[in-house]
Amino acid sequence: MPSDSVSIERTHESNGVVRCMAGAALGHGGVRRGRSVTDRYDRALLLSGPKRDVVLGLWEVQRYGLDSYGDENYVSLYGMQPAEWHARGVRVLGRTAVECTRDVLARAIAQDVAAGAASRSHRPATWVIDPFAGSGNTLHWLAHHLPGARAIGFELDAQVSDLTRRNVAALGLAIDVVRRDYREGLAALSTADHDRFVVFIAPPWGRALDPVRGLDLRSTEPPVADVVQRVVESFAPRPVLCAIQLYEQSDAASVREVARLFDASEVRMYACNAPGQNHGILLGERNWS
Ligand SMILES: C[S@@+](CC[C@H](N)C(=O)[O-])C[C@H]1O[C@@H](n2cnc3c(N)ncnc32)[C@H](O)[C@@H]1O
Repeated sequence: MPSDSVSIERTHESNGVVRCMAGAALGHGGVRRGRSVTDRYDRALLLSGPKRDVVLGLWEVQRYGLDSYGDENYVSLYGMQPAEWHARGVRVLGRTAVECTRDVLARAIAQDVAAGAASRSHRPATWVIDPFAGSGNTLHWLAHHLPGARAIGFELDAQVSDLTRRNVAALGLAIDVVRRDYREGLAALSTADHDRFVVFIAPPWGRALDPVRGLDLRSTEPPVADVVQRVVESFAPRPVLCAIQLYEQSDAASVREVARLFDASEVRMYACNAPGQNHGILLGERNWS
């Protein structure tokens, strides 16, 4: 498993914000301009445009980071900058470069979730599950910070799933990614009475992310509340701790609606991006004691 090569400065501020900065320098050299200078490598081109289902070259990954965030190493994954993970055989689709939870954020989330799990109970998680695995990077970091838990992710898209499975094998990561709809995947798990489940929930945002109104958890595909209900029903009455990915601006009513599904919950934000472009989690527990 790659070492923790990304260093993160974490400052807990008031109102649950964690400030995190990638330790790597923001290099701006070395990115080949392989397409016309007018092609902006942004969310639209990679997520809903012609690059959605295309395996990106290294320069394209770096160009996306530069064009969209001023950082060619923005899409750092599995503890590595793009040049390193690409050299080790990792490949991602355009859509996955946008949808993945990159290192600086995935690691901050995983640290918080692990600390939250430990502070609420001395009994460790036995499973860590990402029903929407994508790149598998969030699952990788959660598994790293929840040692001993079995890590499994479900990924419906055949191309994403095949690439992620190949990447996981190339890097020897201690996670399993299964090509399956999350509902079938949850139903097929062979679990025991004493099991305890940590679940990370980030379904595709699609049209749920509005540039003005922010993220509406009722409009993700599938809606977050449906996923939480399915997770809780699958494992009840056993303990479940869910981390649901949020955007800095999220529809408050939709967040409250999801929070009501838990015994207790809290919101954490991570200052990894420019103000207004940050992500967070809603950490919700059911029977977690
Ligand atoms: C936002 S991405 C997840 C990113 C991921 N957390 C990571 O670290 O890369 C959501 C993923 O869920 C997958 N997906 C969508 N519907 C699904 C379903 N019903 N079951 C399993 N996976 C699904 C999509 O193909 C996509 O790759």
